[in-house]
Amino acid sequence: MIGNVTLTNVGPLPDVEIEFGAGLNVITGDNGLGKSFLLDVVWYALTRRWPAELNRRMMSGYMARPGKASEPANIRFSLERADGRRAEYRADFRRELQSWTGRAGRPLNPGLVVYAHYDGSFSVWDPARNYWRQKGNADVQERQPAFVFAPNDVWDGLKVTGKEGGEQWLCNGLIRDWLDWQKDRDGAKFAILEKLLHHLSPKDMTLKAAAPQRISLDDARAYPTVALPYGDTPVIWCSAGMRRILALAYVLAWSVVEHQENSRLLGQAPARDLTFLFDEVEAHLHPQWQRRIMPGILAALEQIASFLQETERPTSRQKRHMQVIAVTHSALVMASLEECFASEANGKWLDVDLDGMGHVQVTQRDFSKHGDANGWYASEAFDLSSTYSLKAEEVMSEAAALLKKPEPAPEQVRAVYRRLLEVLSPLDSFLFRFRALCEKRSIGLS
Ligand SMILES: Nc1ncnc2c1ncn2[C@@H]1O[C@H](COP(=O)(O)OP(=O)(O)O)[C@@H](O)[C@H]1O
Ligand SMILES: [Mg+2]
Repeated sequence: MIGNVTLTNVGPLPDVEIEFGAGLNVITGDNGLGKSFLLDVVWYALTRRWPAELNRRMMSGYMARPGKASEPANIRFSLERADGRRAEYRADFRRELQSWTGRAGRPLNPGLVVYAHYDGSFSVWDPARNYWRQKGNADVQERQPAFVFAPNDVWDGLKVTGKEGGEQWLCNGLIRDWLDWQKDRDGAKFAILEKLLHHLSPKDMTLKAAAPQRISLDDARAYPTVALPYGDTPVIWCSAGMRRILALAYVLAWSVVEHQENSRLLGQAPARDLTFLFDEVEAHLHPQWQRRIMPGILAALEQIASFLQETERPTSRQKRHMQVIAVTHSALVMASLEECFASEANGKWLDVDLDGMGHVQVTQRDFSKHGDANGWYASEAFDLSSTYSLKAEEVMSEAAALLKKPEPAPEQVRAVYRRLLEVLSPLDSFLFRFRALCEKRSIGLS
């Protein structure tokens, strides 16, 4: 897992120092302040590769560039492990090479890393399949450096050009794997996928597998299908929100079952550490699902930890680090985290803001309860003055300013009242307060 990250002259974050917690970390902040960028940097620190370098179809996860091209830029960071090992690193941007270089030699193995990008792409780094190998005294990395899925690859499979120039499939993709796993009599892979889907969807809309279906005369393939209240629906027709959840559950399930199988093949114990980077947690999700997603993710990670645990000898079982770094713009997600933070001693909230000089700053804030989503909108996480329409907010502040005057002109008060009636619901509490104040000051409204 990642410990701390210090950036000098890197992208939009020229001077920040961040200490991540060992458990749940949540990042908030306005659009364009570098939250996704920060996740890319964390992925780089954990894996030494930029996602877009490994898959040309990626539209996110590009290599970070220095903020000022002519000045030195560096990324300093520490990696930590559940077994207590910790190591410090530094990567410098070499202008002549136009790339980041660090100290030679094998870095600390960070455990399994899964990154859900904001746009439906995913990156996975598996210590059993992507880690450096030792040949004599030298470290060689002749394996695939990481698995980077552009959105389509998650569904149709991920292939690369092999050494002999032919196609080499790295992952079969959700459509083929789902059908294979569902048919498998032992069913362990399908069972974990179903459990993850159960944790990630709301109770009355749980994504449950139905019998595979063919969808047209001209398509010979059967498609994985989910049972929805109004009928069985092939996954490729599911809504954007449901597909986000299906893809997330599949990539997590694929990552851990493949990791577990390959670790066994290598005669190694499965990783003790898992880091999950999750950008725009709420993307495409209805509020019902937004309230569910983070508690669901934490439950899903528990599920994964116990799945990995079951495959180990009892004598070698140890506690696992499950680190999550999630980015959100949703007040409902923040409100839902109140239940997670209550039981999460290692939780951290990092808030990204602009200071008065236009520089981006990352502040660690105490996670205190704000009650409901409106409480969160007014908090430092979102800095909203209200959750009304901009027009209503404008009229309300004019009305409040008018009534603050010692002797407001009654005609003006009546005019603003008429506009309030246009922009607010007749039951809005602001109207009641406005009328009460007018009555107290003997200003007739009709
Ligand atoms: N690869 C990169 N190298 C340098 N700067 C970048 C890179 N990618 C994005 N940026 C900078 O980061 C800003 C956007 O940051 P981003 O992380 O997408 O914002 P958000 O907080 O909304 O996720 C851009 O305006 C750009 O200045
Ligand atoms: Mg972003």
